[in-house]
Amino acid sequence: MEVGSGTRALVTGASRGIGRALAQRLAARGARLGLLARSETELEQLTAALPAAAAGPHLALPCDVGVREQVESAVARFAAEAGRLDLAIANAGVAHYGPFGELEPELVERMTRINWLGTVWTVRAALEPMLAAGRGHVVIVSSGAGQRAFPDAAVYGATKAAQRAFGEALRHELAGTGVSLTVAYPGEIATSLHDHEKARMPAWYHGGDRAASPDGLADAVLDAVQRDRRAVAYPRAVGLLGIAHGVSPRLADAVLRRLRGPTAAPRRD
Ligand SMILES: NC(=O)c1ccc[n+]([C@@H]2O[C@H](COP(=O)([O-])OP(=O)(O)OC[C@H]3O[C@@H](n4cnc5c(N)ncnc54)[C@H](OP(=O)(O)O)[C@@H]3O)[C@@H](O)[C@H]2O)c1
Repeated sequence: MEVGSGTRALVTGASRGIGRALAQRLAARGARLGLLARSETELEQLTAALPAAAAGPHLALPCDVGVREQVESAVARFAAEAGRLDLAIANAGVAHYGPFGELEPELVERMTRINWLGTVWTVRAALEPMLAAGRGHVVIVSSGAGQRAFPDAAVYGATKAAQRAFGEALRHELAGTGVSLTVAYPGEIATSLHDHEKARMPAWYHGGDRAASPDGLADAVLDAVQRDRRAVAYPRAVGLLGIAHGVSPRLADAVLRRLRGPTAAPRRD
């Protein structure tokens, strides 16, 4: 699908980080945007700062993606006001780390509700106008951790793997409808996703200066949409990890031990 001035696009988790970078890149191409996140002030400031779209004003649509009714009404409002929905990016997510036995049940539920159910509700709501129009594209922002989950991130990785499985099946289900789907697998990206618990981050996590740019990821995602690619990994090494894990989890463990140290794959079997 061509992404340009005629595109009506919706991005969840747009108030900062990857979603904000996607919004900026889309607006730079002239797209009209609907931006979703809980932080109303940040969304209002962002919509005001983005380049204007010829197709009409950008909309700040504050909502919690984990609450189905809120997402449904935000998506329906955008589709009605913009006249249609061409591109929907389910990006909103949260991360909590630590050994599974120490992870508070509330955080297990929070990640499940926002990362997994939030994706399902967003995609479900977006498909309605897209299927009715017989055109559109969905992007699901998973993670490299959805291809090979990491210790101390068992639940986070599970929510990201759920997104992967959902997107893989749905892309096939959508064959012949005019609607397509891409799953994005970011590696470590320089955002504030982990800021709330830097002290709990496992040793295998690098982040900091070694994290990749959200702008580079946003460009890679939009390029993948234009080419109708089934998946996009960024940086590219994340895709190699997925391939290695698919061929042999033991091989992926060995690669990770070499690249990230023993905490990335402590068990040898
Ligand atoms: N950064 C990385 O290294 C990395 C790597 C792989 C995958 N990812 C994935 O990329 C996505 C974006 O992460 P990021 O790095 O950009 O994190 P971020 O900077 O913390 O941004 C997360 C975004 O999600 C929104 N959000 C969180 N909970 C929400 C809720 N209940 N309803 C609506 N919006 C909600 C936040 O807005 P509000 O707080 O205003 O609601 C914010 O806009 C996530 O799915 C994450 O798992 C990130």
